[in-house]
Amino acid sequence: MNRTEPAIRTRGVVKDYPYAGSAVRALRGVDLSVAAGEFVAIVGPSGCGKSTLLNLLAGIDDPTEGEIELLGRSLTTLNEGERSALRLREVGFIFQRFHLLAVLTAAENVELPMAEAGVPRGERRARARELLEYVGLDDRLGHRPPHLSGGEQQRVAIARSLANRPRLLLADEPTGELDGRTGEEIITLFERLNHEQGMTLVTVTHDPSVATRAGRVVEMRDGRVVGSETPHSRAP
Ligand SMILES: Nc1ncnc2c1ncn2[C@@H]1O[C@H](COP(=O)(O)OP(=O)(O)O)[C@@H](O)[C@H]1O
Ligand SMILES: [Mg+2]
Repeated sequence: MNRTEPAIRTRGVVKDYPYAGSAVRALRGVDLSVAAGEFVAIVGPSGCGKSTLLNLLAGIDDPTEGEIELLGRSLTTLNEGERSALRLREVGFIFQRFHLLAVLTAAENVELPMAEAGVPRGERRARARELLEYVGLDDRLGHRPPHLSGGEQQRVAIARSLANRPRLLLADEPTGELDGRTGEEIITLFERLNHEQGMTLVTVTHDPSVATRAGRVVEMRDGRVVGSETPHSRAP
């Protein structure tokens, strides 16, 4: 990559949650840079702050201290409207429990963020179909989530996260609810997005077989980044 600007840069990020009249310090000064086009796995024991960090990166929550730059913009300088636009159009978020709407079909779930972004109906339909084909679900367009397997639901959620052509995907334990082989399919899909489309990906995982497929593994412990290593080198 010769784009100079990192996709993500954090400096001294601290996060306190108010709790029982005092505070829980979930992050204790996180410095992290992710280059455009990287595929990074964040690992670490339960409670070390992985989800907290991801939520801050997505602009879902605010840091107590420190700076977060996303795609060249400082999150603290954005107003609520600008943050919503960033979340809607430039950052895709994938959750452990899929978070699909059960009353909508797979295609309608994928169309939803496009409807929110004002994409005309015909274009929405065509793109939803195209995305569901990309994730291998072109024969499930009219199925509702309760009639899909966990792996299929997660693939719909990935298609939805791609709807408005984001530049960055954030995923929190995306294979946590899936069996090994199904989880493997999800990671293969992430690899394809990274290789074929140059998508920048940051995924939290406690599954070592997921982490080793990423281009870099960032290790967290007790609210801090304590290591960063490249498990294998890849062709440029
Ligand atoms: N809303 C909250 N209120 C109070 N404490 C919280 C809240 N969310 C998370 N925490 C605490 O912050 C720490 C980090 O949590 P989290 O980011 O969810 O960790 P991880 O995703 O690595 O398991 C934990 O000690 C957790 O109990
Ligand atoms: Mg978590």
